[in-house]
Amino acid sequence: MKPGKPALSKAELKAKRDKYIFGSVKHLFADPPHFVKGQGQYLYDQEGREYLDMFAGIVTVSVGHCHPKVVEATVEQVKTLQHTSTIFMTQPMVDLAEKLAEIAPTGLSKSFITNSGTEANEAAVRLARLASGRHEVIALKHSYHGESHLTSTLTANHNFRPEIMPASGIVHAENAYCYRCPFNKTSDNCQLECAQDVERVIQTQTSGKPAVMIAEPIQGVGGTITPPDDYFVEVKKILDKYGVLFIADEVQTGVGRTGRDWFGISGYGVVPDMITMAKGLGNGMPIGAVIARDELSDRVSAQQQINTFGGNPVSATTALAVLDVIEEEKLIKNAKEIGDYLMEGFKDLKKRHPGFVADVRGRGLMLGIELAAKDKTPLPQQTARVIELCRENGVIIGKGGLFANVIRIKPALNITKENANTLLEVMGKAIATVEKESQILV
Ligand SMILES: Cc1ncc(COP(=O)(O)O)c(C=O)c1O
Repeated sequence: MKPGKPALSKAELKAKRDKYIFGSVKHLFADPPHFVKGQGQYLYDQEGREYLDMFAGIVTVSVGHCHPKVVEATVEQVKTLQHTSTIFMTQPMVDLAEKLAEIAPTGLSKSFITNSGTEANEAAVRLARLASGRHEVIALKHSYHGESHLTSTLTANHNFRPEIMPASGIVHAENAYCYRCPFNKTSDNCQLECAQDVERVIQTQTSGKPAVMIAEPIQGVGGTITPPDDYFVEVKKILDKYGVLFIADEVQTGVGRTGRDWFGISGYGVVPDMITMAKGLGNGMPIGAVIARDELSDRVSAQQQINTFGGNPVSATTALAVLDVIEEEKLIKNAKEIGDYLMEGFKDLKKRHPGFVADVRGRGLMLGIELAAKDKTPLPQQTARVIELCRENGVIIGKGGLFANVIRIKPALNITKENANTLLEVMGKAIATVEKESQILV
């Protein structure tokens, strides 16, 4: 949109989109609003309608749309120095790396700054392979790690795996999906077989010497799959036994979303060898990062790594402002408080709608609600309908899961109790309506 020009109508924009944008770029809603403005927790469409945004882009707007402090820092930097690239020395990238070292678990103190989560994961796996001299990579079923050739092969969800020759050397272990336990266990007899599966995979599907395992502390696109508290401790023991490095993909869970610490993996009591992040780090500005143990990055320092836009002064300045806001406004604490409050509301929904709201899970403001029948048959159409109804009533929520039957609630970390109540009311009504509709259909 050119500055000063009126926005196109929704219909005009749709027609133009269909003419010029790849058809593979799909939108969440069948009849997508034309958003033209964001402020705090709210989005505004071209007709001036306000929406409470409880999905924050895709789990990206960590401190609210157009947060004034973040905007001010960004604009000032755009006016001062916008670009040089990594072959020239500038301060914002270095300041950001210093800040990441401060907030990361002890021992992780050197960063490579990228433009996206995909690039961060690419860089992390490359570092793991170069540093270890090994090739194979373990990922988890139902994971999502990005769009590139390598990261789409790491991804174990057919919806995001194009029909191209997969990248080599990648194997998948079972995930800790307690509601649909791959080993048919329940919380009463769980012995963390899913963690033991990592060892089985190493022994049966690799040379016995994989380079690295990559895992999301809580699977995001996979449907807020939240492992039991002791899962990662067990996994890490196995990885250590075989000399396998560990990357925590914190592209969604990072910068405080899980409400326990800056990073989701810290809540599981494990220190990884590398953390990758993106999304919430820039509040919507393109940025990603890998932060690694010094000795790993030092092993490859003889090589040159270039990234034209990675670590550019503008995105780095934005990220620094985002981290400052999270600290100043105590947003990790807020994520826990409002997240716990929402979870209570979700548990109540589950009680009121048995055989429809099947499972509620997550931590902090990384929350999911799985819709399934009493026999666990996923309800993807009903999920899509709930999401559309919420949009019609001014609340944006997300969707995910291998079976597209998980409602995803992942708003900005500074939402209020009032916002939470609006969500509970609007979503509660939508769930009741859709449950009734599907009973009539049956
Ligand atoms: C856990 C995780 N890793 C990696 C990515 C890829 O990030 P990007 O879309 O910035 O490339 C995503 C994106 O949704 C993600 O959720």
